[in-house]
Amino acid sequence: MADRVEAYIDANRNRFIEELQQWMRFPSVSAQRNHDSDTRACAEWLTDHLKSLGFEAGLVDIGGQPIVRASRKGKSSRCVMIYGHYDVQPEDPLDQWQTPPFEPTIRDGILYGRGATDDKGQVFTHVKAVESLLKTEGQLPCGVVFLLEGEEESGGDALARYVGQVKDELKPDAIVISDSTMYDKNTPAITYGLRGIIAFEFIIRGPAADVHSGAYGGAVANPAMVVAQILAACVSPEGRVLIPRFYDDVAPLQDWERESFRKLNFNDQALARELNVPRLHGEPGFSTLERLWARPTFEVNGIFGGYQGQRSKTIIPATATAKVTCRLVPHQDPARIRDLVFQHIRSICPETVRLEINEFGASPPVLFDVDNPAIRAAQEALRKGFGHDTAFIRCGGSIPVVSTFVEQLGCPVILMGFGLDSDRPHGPNEHFSLDSFIRGTKAAAHLLRAT
Ligand code: BES
Ligand code: MN
Ligand code: MN
Repeated sequence: MADRVEAYIDANRNRFIEELQQWMRFPSVSAQRNHDSDTRACAEWLTDHLKSLGFEAGLVDIGGQPIVRASRKGKSSRCVMIYGHYDVQPEDPLDQWQTPPFEPTIRDGILYGRGATDDKGQVFTHVKAVESLLKTEGQLPCGVVFLLEGEEESGGDALARYVGQVKDELKPDAIVISDSTMYDKNTPAITYGLRGIIAFEFIIRGPAADVHSGAYGGAVANPAMVVAQILAACVSPEGRVLIPRFYDDVAPLQDWERESFRKLNFNDQALARELNVPRLHGEPGFSTLERLWARPTFEVNGIFGGYQGQRSKTIIPATATAKVTCRLVPHQDPARIRDLVFQHIRSICPETVRLEINEFGASPPVLFDVDNPAIRAAQEALRKGFGHDTAFIRCGGSIPVVSTFVEQLGCPVILMGFGLDSDRPHGPNEHFSLDSFIRGTKAAAHLLRAT
């Protein structure tokens, strides 16, 4: 039986990929209002596609980007909910793409385009898994509900609000999410921890307009310099966060987990090579995987202000801005960390400038118990799909709605991702291995059959 499903997937591989490419052509950039109609069209395309597979499907509009909800009953009364997101990050910097971001292109068995790995390609494995089961077995082994959001990448809360409204009706037996990574290209993984996040910017305002740096330099504070000084007071040169009480609630790594990270034999040199940096960096006293998966950070995502053109220009800029995210780990509370960070910035900002802080959302870290039958079924499904044993990993990234699932739905959450960190999600030339796409589709089908 399993073979018939796998054979169907292999036989239809090219069509699956063409359909995925079609879906990737919608520039569903949720952060940008000028793309709202593209984002909706992207959601509608998927809704129609799921309807064509016999799903009862529609868009849920409750403010923010629409949610795709689709369901179909199966042989057993059990129900798997599949979560993912159809929105994507902005495509910039456009000039660094080898082929246009929304004209998906295959080179050497790899699909390039915005959303290839994050998250359209990964969502589509589940769509094609249900198609393959329906076409070979005539029915789904269990009930399936797709809940796909359109504002994961832009800090929206439509899905969290919706889950609050319909939690008593949803009641899935397990939630499956493919929006994370494998350990490496041959080692599938189950992710049992995600970091949380707080996102904000602070703006420093000095003189009412840019002024001559000779005429005024020495008499007024320079906003760009103040941004630099504030940032330098937030993180040490080694990468330890200097904000008072920031680490108070951080759960120390347990011995078993330290040991399990160590056994993954992570190669620091290979990562330095992949990223083309002279050497790695980070909080002293922790291994790279510990720093990535179990330690909090303070990162600058963008810093700007003043003259950005050719050669030099002698001004004191009127304003300067830093955009920041902090990654959080158990048991840091986003609201408390936000207060600590803002308080610290306010307390060190000099009186010679004005400070404005704008918040862009927050989500708590999550850590799952992996000792349950749903996780064991996923482990076996991944082994069948990929032909290799599954690693248990944590991830440095965040998927904000997951903590809502944990709180409101209380069933096992299976994070089985098919991407790689090196797929360049969020960056130019984002890509997804078509082998992983096909193997992931097989694993997704095996998981439903085991439910
Ligand atoms: N798929 C990623 C999250 C992710 C990244 C999981 C790497 C595992 C490994 C997700 O789409 C994402 O980018 N999330 C954002 C959330 C933010 C915009 C609130 C993130 O982590 O930056
Ligand atoms: Mn994602
Ligand atoms: Mn993302």
